[in-house]
Amino acid sequence: MRDAAWDAFVTRVRDASDILRVVSSYVPLKRKGSRYWACCPFHNEKTPSFSVTPDKGGLFYCFGCHAGGDIFKFISLIENVTYGEAIKLQAEKLGIPLPDERRSSAELARDQKIADMRKVMGMARDFFHSCLVNTPYGKPGLEYFAGRGIGKDIIDDFSLGFAPDSFDKLRNAFLKRGVPEKLLLECGLVKQRKSGAGTYDTFRGRVMIPIADERGRFVGFGGRVMDDSVPKYLNSPETMIFNKRKLLFGLDRAKKAIRDEGYVILVEGYMDAISVASAGVRNVVASLGTSFTIEHARLIMRYAPEIYFCYDSDEAGQKATIRALSIIRATGAKVKVLIVPDGKDPDEFIRKHGVDAFRELAKRALPVADYQIKYALAHNDIRTMDGKSNALHAIVPVLAAAQTVERMELVQELKRTLAIDEGIITQEISRYKGEPAENIQQGAPMRQAVRRIDDAVMRAGRVVVRQAWEDTGTLADIEARVPLDDFPVALHGEILKYLAKCERDGVPISESGAFEALSEDAASELSRILSETFAGGTAADLYDECAQKIYISYLKIRLEGHRIKADELQRAGEDFIGELEESNKIQKKINELERNEQQ
Ligand code: CTP
Ligand code: MN
Repeated sequence: MRDAAWDAFVTRVRDASDILRVVSSYVPLKRKGSRYWACCPFHNEKTPSFSVTPDKGGLFYCFGCHAGGDIFKFISLIENVTYGEAIKLQAEKLGIPLPDERRSSAELARDQKIADMRKVMGMARDFFHSCLVNTPYGKPGLEYFAGRGIGKDIIDDFSLGFAPDSFDKLRNAFLKRGVPEKLLLECGLVKQRKSGAGTYDTFRGRVMIPIADERGRFVGFGGRVMDDSVPKYLNSPETMIFNKRKLLFGLDRAKKAIRDEGYVILVEGYMDAISVASAGVRNVVASLGTSFTIEHARLIMRYAPEIYFCYDSDEAGQKATIRALSIIRATGAKVKVLIVPDGKDPDEFIRKHGVDAFRELAKRALPVADYQIKYALAHNDIRTMDGKSNALHAIVPVLAAAQTVERMELVQELKRTLAIDEGIITQEISRYKGEPAENIQQGAPMRQAVRRIDDAVMRAGRVVVRQAWEDTGTLADIEARVPLDDFPVALHGEILKYLAKCERDGVPISESGAFEALSEDAASELSRILSETFAGGTAADLYDECAQKIYISYLKIRLEGHRIKADELQRAGEDFIGELEESNKIQKKINELERNEQQ
């Protein structure tokens, strides 16, 4: 995909594009200084925090929702297409032809391969289904489904199946029908033997749930064991057509209901989706055991603007919900959280209480801000200073994203619950939104010491990343101080690791390469870093001081680690002297560095 001709093409399209023109065809831009501002098209807001910097190839960044990137990233977000598709879209608009013929013949071959794979996956679905309903092997599968209240109707409706407990049933059947072994491997239906030649069936002795893409084409399977053995679920491996980050189970059949209802119910497991949909609530989809991604959010938003999260209500499910919510905030989707009581999942709940009770839960789904606040308050001991501060920290992003009226209400509520000064809350919101310092009231005494360190480290990290971007020679110096895996700000570590990899592989560093390779959050952060003008000088001027700051922060984190370890050992009555000595050594080093810093 990424060859020289393609890179040249991307550069050509980029050079011919004017980010101001593109963006202002969606939102009106207003100039202030060297930047242009608008109300962000990716989240709801009344005062502009979305900025465009036309130089440096053109970048955008929203200080409210942290969406950011280059011109193609903007198009991909606003048009709901992939980064690569955005490049092609823009090229078409400008009348720039795709790179040479060779590429299109490669594309043709790729299309053919994908068509072949889809065909084989369809055959596999029929094979497993037939094993379940037409052969004696399927008996344990039918019994298992019956035990879960899944009868013939649902089995046929979802084309559920069964993989016999054998190493070659599917393989032999398919080879006999002329399917090349290589294709079976590429589909993830068989695996290469570790010793000796040949392959064996991937799925054995499992009930099979076929997974379709949003257009109803079968692209993968989930296989569940029928007892307590592990892994409970085995999914198809990632293939050219099976990408869990972009797939939602059930979307093909739920589409219409989602449009009609105006929202989608998102559950964690496909069994939950099957159970909910069969009970008659059809606007349901499931993520495939991976965390919820921004791609998922965008896929859903093609059909409805609102998502009801309905993850398991156990601790893991709550954590996953909170994480997903922070991802979703960047997309502007409306979100509610549907809480299933007693730690049950939707499937169990419906079997026990019936579908009407479930519909009732949906009616009472909590608005996202309420949920997140409830979560933060429940997971911190708000009688302590630290607990209050952590809770506030967790809630601030939610408040920042809320509409003004709602925000004012929430701030009042929080003021009462946490018993803290309203000024502190509003100041934290301003700070989070990256509003200039003069807008922030002075004197929120208790938290400032802690936060000042955080902000300083964040800022120092940005300088270091910017310098490494401009001169990859800097990377060696950074790595000599701090292993990139342990970088205090993980997003910065991710960007630096990407740069180091490019350097190692001899790949030239480009914005399009970076925005494609980095996670959504890291790409936004990079965009911010590249469009920033640092107070006090250029990144090169500030580098030494900032790298030192990062080094000290890293040492402090390690120090904390050794102290905790020593503490644990001591409590367990074990030898903790080694850990203590190590932490003393680090403390000394920190003192020394901080003394130098002050001079
Ligand atoms: N999952 C997975 N691999 C595992 C466990 C879970 O891929 N070893 C994924 C599956 O997509 C599953 C989802 O995570 O559907 C939710 O897992 P879990 O809550 O454990 O399963 P349930 O959906 O409750 O499944 P069941 O009711 O069949 O036990
Ligand atoms: Mn379950």
